[in-house]
Amino acid sequence: MSITIYTEADFPELRKACRLASEVLDYITPFIKPGITTKEIDRLAAECMAKQGTRSASLGYQPSPEYPPYPGSVCTSPNNVVCHGIPNDKPLKKGDILNVDVTIITPEGWYGDNSRMFEIGEVSIAAKRLCRLTFEAMWLGILQVKPGNRLGDVGHAIQKFAEGHGLSVVREFCGHGVGRRFHEEPQVLHYGRPGTMEVLEPGMVFTIEPMLNLGRREIKELGRDGWTIVTKDHSLTAQWEHQILVTPTGYEVLTLSDGSPPPPDFVTATKT
Ligand code: MF3
Ligand code: CO
Ligand code: CO
Repeated sequence: MSITIYTEADFPELRKACRLASEVLDYITPFIKPGITTKEIDRLAAECMAKQGTRSASLGYQPSPEYPPYPGSVCTSPNNVVCHGIPNDKPLKKGDILNVDVTIITPEGWYGDNSRMFEIGEVSIAAKRLCRLTFEAMWLGILQVKPGNRLGDVGHAIQKFAEGHGLSVVREFCGHGVGRRFHEEPQVLHYGRPGTMEVLEPGMVFTIEPMLNLGRREIKELGRDGWTIVTKDHSLTAQWEHQILVTPTGYEVLTLSDGSPPPPDFVTATKT
């Protein structure tokens, strides 16, 4: 097994899949308000995919036989849920934060994977800060993406920033190669040491999707649904995810659309 190098001929379909994945998040955004349930969000996302002619890569997904098939079209992870939250009938309330993670497959068989945080009404200063810092951590990781740099550079940038702000990095889940398949090599750890791990090459495609906790980094499985992961200390947690192409000069963020939050100021500052 090795890391797939995608080529020019693949890029149009890859870009299309990723834009559509991002547009599912755009589509559900105006509905995410106090009172809506995560099941309703899931239904709206499924409706959007149907209109696009795409389908959910998450629905029925089973990474290994120990997992039950994933029952939702998207993952909805509120507050202390780290990832893989299953849509349910509990209404969201003012002050909640929520990650929605969307992975779609196009009819041509290409995957687009991305997630965003949503603030439900007015949220606490601590919750807002966690969401913002996690977004910035993801982008600091993205800025490390260029040929010759290594995945350890990406992980280190995220970890240093997160821990420097008193946040902890979840270790058990990582970014991943994605394109023709949902999860492929490499694993993209959100912690690490500079100059270690795989060397980046043009044509590699992977996600960067840090999960940062306000409290301790330890996680546990909630109950027996086989999926839902929560923070062990019940602290708040946030995650953002983009799918990235390594280009000859740096990176291309594939999962962008009209509704994507603009990159932090430090990104534009380094580009000019
Ligand atoms: N989209 C998630 C990721 O970023 C994986 C979700 S698997 C599911 O890798 F089955 F829970 F949807
Ligand atoms: Co992913
Ligand atoms: Co995802």
